[in-house]
Amino acid sequence: MSSPVLTVMTAAVRKAARALQRDYGEIANLQVSQKGPGDYVTAADKRCDKILREELAKARPGYSFLTEETGSVPGTDPDHRFIIDPIDGTMNFMHSVPFFAITVALERKDELVAAITYNPITDEMYSAEKGGGAFVNNKRMRVAQRRDIHDTLVSYEIPHRGGKGLPLSRAEISVLQGRVVGIRGTGSAALSMAYVAAGRFDAMVCRNINSWDIAAGILLVKEAGGFVADPDGEKNPMETGNILATNADLLPQFKDALAMAREA
Ligand code: IPD
Ligand code: CA
Repeated sequence: MSSPVLTVMTAAVRKAARALQRDYGEIANLQVSQKGPGDYVTAADKRCDKILREELAKARPGYSFLTEETGSVPGTDPDHRFIIDPIDGTMNFMHSVPFFAITVALERKDELVAAITYNPITDEMYSAEKGGGAFVNNKRMRVAQRRDIHDTLVSYEIPHRGGKGLPLSRAEISVLQGRVVGIRGTGSAALSMAYVAAGRFDAMVCRNINSWDIAAGILLVKEAGGFVADPDGEKNPMETGNILATNADLLPQFKDALAMAREA
């Protein structure tokens, strides 16, 4: 049974998703045009953000917001904050690659308590509540149980051209390639984390990421029995933007691999 606020979040995401599905349908036509779909994607992002904020504010007036599109919007209730990315995986969306998501988390007194990540193309709704477990379309999720890094499939978010931290990312990919079975760069950190929660990827690593990309994913992974850490130390990934998500057995093995890359 979902709590009332998770029900509100799910309904808001479904409403925004209907608009996003329509916009996605248009992208293929724009793709082949000279101008490209750039401006259209920006408009789709803004539309989706607006629907989410309106629907959530209607049901929970006073809650604060942090969204990729509108930044920080303080409400009259300082204890509650929705953290939103209306389209995570914008580049995929723009190229008609159906791997992107709407992702929404709720913080209560700085603690993540509810999360939704939704892929509107595959119609997969990933949800979690603190202490209530994690689900994909009402089916319970558990992180993968592999115990040896040499058996793993890993999601590693590859920085775009000119992106921050390229040399470190190259070093990390190189070390990981010597240890894991396979690496995937998905283009949606939020969905990669949902895949870790669903036991599809054994781990995900991402650097220089914004908190709205990973907030929901952190709760999904934790409620699916996984662990989330800053690969470089004890800090909070929501603050550092550097994140490693995996299971308890693999956590030290991935930390070790990433430490080796840092020292290389
Ligand atoms: C991006 C995605 C991607 C990550 C980038 C993010 P956006 O978010 O999460 O996986 O590698 O760093 O900026 O731009 O698609 O919302
Ligand atoms: Ca994003």
